[in-house]
Amino acid sequence: MTVHRSHRSHRSYDATTAGLVRHSLAVLRDGRHPSGAYVACPNYPTYQYAWLRDGSFCAYAADLWGEREEAAAFHRFVARTVLRHLGREADSGRAEADLRLPTRYTLTGEFEPAGAQAWPNFQLDGYGTWLWALRDHRARGGVLDDEILRAAGRTADYLDATCALPCYDCWEEYGDRRHTSTLATLVAGLEAAAELLGRPALSDRAAGLRAELDSAAHLGDAGYIKHDASGGVDASLLWLALPFGVVAPDDPRMTATAERIGAELTGPGGGIRRYLGDEFYGGGEWILLTAWWGWYRAALGDREGALRAARWIEAAATESGDLPEQLTATPQFADRVEPWTRRWGPVATPLLWSHAMYLVLADALARL
Ligand code: BGC
Repeated sequence: MTVHRSHRSHRSYDATTAGLVRHSLAVLRDGRHPSGAYVACPNYPTYQYAWLRDGSFCAYAADLWGEREEAAAFHRFVARTVLRHLGREADSGRAEADLRLPTRYTLTGEFEPAGAQAWPNFQLDGYGTWLWALRDHRARGGVLDDEILRAAGRTADYLDATCALPCYDCWEEYGDRRHTSTLATLVAGLEAAAELLGRPALSDRAAGLRAELDSAAHLGDAGYIKHDASGGVDASLLWLALPFGVVAPDDPRMTATAERIGAELTGPGGGIRRYLGDEFYGGGEWILLTAWWGWYRAALGDREGALRAARWIEAAATESGDLPEQLTATPQFADRVEPWTRRWGPVATPLLWSHAMYLVLADALARL
């Protein structure tokens, strides 16, 4: 059976890809709360929240596949949530720079109950990613009403006030550092807001962060590095090229970075790890990062490489087509798989963000 892209392409996929595309769209649809929020994973107890990071990529994937209303509902959810919390803090006279907005909210947009999770919450990348996704949504025909634009303005003010602070990275780690991929989301988010809101001062702020990105704190002799106190790479550095475009995919700074990611972070199974030394469930091979790798290969015109990533992901799906967060068959630390499993349960499956990134890769393959 083949799936024909209704909205754009004459291309068709083979049965495996068609099946996983269809299932992935259903997983996103089913994982969307009536509020518009996307749950990170419906079956994993500690992921019963809406992360702006995960959700923005889910909305992006929905938009790519013509599910405009789904994406719109997510953006309305974020707008309501942001206005509720930023509005309240501002009313009580607190400066935005003093705020530490959370990375995740309940599915109805509240802060999680105090003490609910031990996991760190102050991360700026989700807010930058949201602003970027919002502009993309508009570029694809989405309509941004007054409430959404007001929320975008407040979010931009918040980032303007906080973007020089260290914060936890997209993996919720190393909260005292400046993270290279987080900086990329801030550059892209502030630039998107500058355009959406007609506020050029936000572009100036983004330019300052761009300069920081290219300073020795983030760019070494062999490309970009994970954070300002690390010589290593992290697969999230691929974000600099895609989708945030702070550097072109074939820029030597990016190709050098990607070369290191390919050499150091490809696991024995062929999937991509987060970074060397990752102990979370032993530090296995991640679905969403392998999709990112394939997306990047596609951007370089390497159809074979992109296809290889898609095949790897398709083989990683469970019998019902669900995609986990990571595969733990070939971990970096074999003795760390069991303690995480005992504490939190099996790896989160299906992870909506994994499905979203597979959809992004499938879309990129269709364009090659
Ligand atoms: C990951 C985050 C992700 C969250 C929800 C965490 O384990 O490190 O990147 O946003 O799970 O999927």
